[in-house]
Amino acid sequence: MQQKIIVWDFGSLYTQTLAKEIRNHEVYSEILPFHAFNEDQSVESIKGFVLSPLGDNSFIDERKNLREKLIKTGIPLLEIENEISDSEIDEFLFNSCNCDKDWSAKKFIEQQLNSIRNAVGDKKVILGLSGGVDSSVTSVLIQKAIGDQLTCIFVDTGLLRKDEAKKVMDNFGKHFHLNINLIDASDRFLGELKEVSDPEQKRKIIGKEFIEVFNAEAKKIQDADFLAQGTIYPDVIESVNIHGGTAVKSHHNVGGLPEDMKLELLEPLRHLFKDEVRRVGVELGIPAELVSRHPFPGPGLGVRVLGAIDRERVRILQDADDIFISELYKAGLYNKVSQAFVVLLPVKSVGVTDGKRTYDNAVAIRSVDTLDFMSARWSRLPYEFLDKVSHRIMTEVNGVNRVTFDISSKPPATIEWE
Ligand code: XMP
Repeated sequence: MQQKIIVWDFGSLYTQTLAKEIRNHEVYSEILPFHAFNEDQSVESIKGFVLSPLGDNSFIDERKNLREKLIKTGIPLLEIENEISDSEIDEFLFNSCNCDKDWSAKKFIEQQLNSIRNAVGDKKVILGLSGGVDSSVTSVLIQKAIGDQLTCIFVDTGLLRKDEAKKVMDNFGKHFHLNINLIDASDRFLGELKEVSDPEQKRKIIGKEFIEVFNAEAKKIQDADFLAQGTIYPDVIESVNIHGGTAVKSHHNVGGLPEDMKLELLEPLRHLFKDEVRRVGVELGIPAELVSRHPFPGPGLGVRVLGAIDRERVRILQDADDIFISELYKAGLYNKVSQAFVVLLPVKSVGVTDGKRTYDNAVAIRSVDTLDFMSARWSRLPYEFLDKVSHRIMTEVNGVNRVTFDISSKPPATIEWE
């Protein structure tokens, strides 16, 4: 049985850090909102309780009450008012609670292969593959468990990074033998987006089209019973409201369940933090370069081509972005920054190429350093590096004659421009 430590959440930002720290000691931890206590929880698999700090002063009495109840269970309890050190965590886990070190990527995979096989039996599973870390790891894991009973749907919206569809087919189709239906829906997306420049409107169109295209494809797969998703632990925790009830994360992620298909959800990563997803990915043999990719917004380049979108503007952005990202890799900087990309601005400016006056597009380079993507600081990239990127973009990308560097932090700016 998987041993665990329960971390009780009172709204402090430190709660997730704490749960991660415990797992870094190879002991599984789970976060529960303070009001979720029930007597049945004093089961054998729970080795200890941790009272995480208060977020503000709202729940002082509730914390006292929970403390009383937890003490009655006789299970070791650690109360934390502020941050605690590594050695204190160690002491609690291995001296007070007598935990075994039994949480690792390898063990997680073994457990999941069993439970996926048990849950799915001989039924079929559909998964929306995006090329991002979470859906990639989910698909490789499920494929390992049930082979060709899994069908992945990959929608090329026309708003992907340069050569992305080809790369995904090569990596996951050829290398991992995933059964992938690649749908080129770029005409449809770009058609619906034609002359639309309002950011909210663009996001809505992309979200709606995605659901329609995905659902139509999903329906073609006869007698599927499961829809697999790359939901991860922060998505789960953040949608459970500390005040009770659920607050569905308004944030992001296009997609939705084809309702009339009555699919059951399969979310094997729903208890993993992002770093753990990466470790599982590496353990499954996915190249480190793929599992450590920066986040990419669901609406893709649709929110990075500012203003109205057309194929040519997407092409310009793809080329410029590809140069920036490959130079980051070459300089060993890609994994040092948290997220980097290029934005195509809706302005033109005057320049000179080969002695001739030009009037062409400007792009902005964006790179940020952040821990949680809630706040972010612009990356202090070396001038020599920026110079090289700028030079390459201006000489190699047809249609760009000016490169700027975005030095806005979040807040008050956001990471994406739209
Ligand atoms: P902002 O721009 O809000 O972005 O500071 C915070 C993080 O979220 C990513 N982002 C998205 N991710 N679907 C996603 O899955 C989206 O629609 C979306 N919009 C922004 C953004 O890239 C950054 O990492």
